[in-house]
Amino acid sequence: MFQDNQASTLKRMAYGKMSESNLRVLAVSSGKGGVGKTNFVANLAYALSKRGKKVLVVDADLGLNNIDILLGLTPQKHIGHVLAGECSIEDIILRGPADIHVLPAGDGLQELTQLQSEKKMLLMDELDRVSHGYDFLIFDTGAGISTNVTYFCSAAHETLLIATTEPTSLTDVYALIKTLHNKHAQKNFRMIINSVSSEREAQGVYRNLTAVTDRFLAGVSIEYLGYILQDPNVPKAVRQQKAFLELYPFSKFSVCINDLAEKISKEKPSSLSCEGAQPYFWRSAFPVQ
Ligand SMILES: Nc1ncnc2c1ncn2[C@@H]1O[C@H](COP(=O)(O)OP(=O)(O)OP(=O)(O)O)[C@@H](O)[C@H]1O
Ligand SMILES: [Mg+2]
Repeated sequence: MFQDNQASTLKRMAYGKMSESNLRVLAVSSGKGGVGKTNFVANLAYALSKRGKKVLVVDADLGLNNIDILLGLTPQKHIGHVLAGECSIEDIILRGPADIHVLPAGDGLQELTQLQSEKKMLLMDELDRVSHGYDFLIFDTGAGISTNVTYFCSAAHETLLIATTEPTSLTDVYALIKTLHNKHAQKNFRMIINSVSSEREAQGVYRNLTAVTDRFLAGVSIEYLGYILQDPNVPKAVRQQKAFLELYPFSKFSVCINDLAEKISKEKPSSLSCEGAQPYFWRSAFPVQ
């Protein structure tokens, strides 16, 4: 009995501190596949980490071409193994370049949305405890509008959308915004235009998109966050399985990512419109019913 009380007091103390957390949870998504989400996430994480931020990247993409491959990491276990009681969360977190941490969620993420048990509650508490040590949690989601994608976008504090100049990329990101707005009541989005030849081109793409959303999706606000230049060195870094910023620190892609990281790292969480902001991210994202 005494031990139980002591445990719950310690937990209250820990969670009391957690509520002061400045953790920012970003979901990076796109609608269309192959527009540069994973390259952006890996290098944004690298740039934030170099600015002294503690970053945990959550690989929420169940498809191929995942962040671990991009960074040459080899996960042995994922959340499914934690759920099976085979290891702890700390055991599955990988260390990448610039000391980025990567949580390989694997198939375990789908289990999280389904599980209804005390085990799940304990896991959520563990994930919240571990997450508390970070400044940023960045979800690299898959493409499309599957529930796996929309779940993380609506649970995150901020949704960063990536599009390119391709018309299909714009129609697909519009479809994602529409779904997140109509089905998940999400209103605020931040936009990054990738693989452009100039900032002017990116702003043109942004204007085209907002012309349509302003007309058909009342109440939706899309902020222009920035642009990333098309850079022929990106595919080379992908083949070498190393962070682009490490291999080509002065190349066009690196300059753009550093500008974005500078902007993001200087923002205060409270100054942002954090629709889903909760001190206990995991517990609120995956509530036990
Ligand atoms: N700014 C850029 N300049 C040149 N090539 C780029 C740029 N950004 C991404 N690419 C290329 O685009 C391809 C897709 O990138 P990436 O895997 O990051 O996209 P993704 O959106 O995560 O894809 P998926 O939807 O399959 O997860 C890669 O081959 C990468 O080299
Ligand atoms: Mg990807």
